[in-house]
Amino acid sequence: MEDTLSKLKQTVGHLSLKIRKKPYIAIVLGSGLGSLANSIQNKLEVPYHAIPNFSKATAPGHEGSLTFGELGGREVVAMKGRFHHYEGWSMNEVVFPLRVFKLLGVENLILTNAAGGINTQFKPGDLMLIQDHIGFFADNPLRGANMDELGVRFPDMSQVYDRDMIQVATECAMKLQYEVRRGIYAYAKGPSYETPAEIRAFRTMGADAVGMSTVPEAIAARHMGMKVLGISCITNMAAGVLEQTLNHEEVMETGKKVEEKFSKLVTEIVRSWS
Ligand code: HPA
Repeated sequence: MEDTLSKLKQTVGHLSLKIRKKPYIAIVLGSGLGSLANSIQNKLEVPYHAIPNFSKATAPGHEGSLTFGELGGREVVAMKGRFHHYEGWSMNEVVFPLRVFKLLGVENLILTNAAGGINTQFKPGDLMLIQDHIGFFADNPLRGANMDELGVRFPDMSQVYDRDMIQVATECAMKLQYEVRRGIYAYAKGPSYETPAEIRAFRTMGADAVGMSTVPEAIAARHMGMKVLGISCITNMAAGVLEQTLNHEEVMETGKKVEEKFSKLVTEIVRSWS
């Protein structure tokens, strides 16, 4: 872990020399939702391959760069392309960028993702504010020696997703006259989609949506005391909900369809969050 910490410091040192201002909010963009980064003004784009100790994004729909700049009148950094455990990255590698953000001085985080709808009231294209998550099946990113510089050994997870941020996001959606859902996000390892039996089990557990990201990042961010907001784009109904098979193209297509709505909502949240 000493090693991770020295890598973090090296990466933070490298980025600090490049950026003009400290970002106020970091935004992680999920599958098909990367175009929000185009709305960022006065931007500085840094590809992952040019950042020491960063992994390379491999998932389709994930471009692989950090965009620093202004959105909604605020300094932000957006991650176009995240690292998933299913790509083969360790959980330590998955959460590395979040730790870099925190050490750069970023205190607020918006995690976005594409997710399958488990709640039968949901439909593809819906946006869901994450109220809580079920992460039983995710290896914990805090496993191993604790990095005391970042947080405590046994961090509390009673309120992973910040209540005030959920409230602000709800008000922003009302202002834009968008309907948003609230619900529980369940983590699935991927990369295969779930079976109908797994989806029924998740529903019994209380999940409304399922996806292959977000939970490890949210845990690592809360470990460091960051404020976290999670937004899922319901790109498809989860396995077995409808009489049809699942594919990544559908996920990307729905992401494209809601991109503008999603970008406007996130921009309004960034503008309104203080
Ligand atoms: N399952 C898991 N992850 C997903 C899904 C899904 O149905 N849709 C988008 N990401």
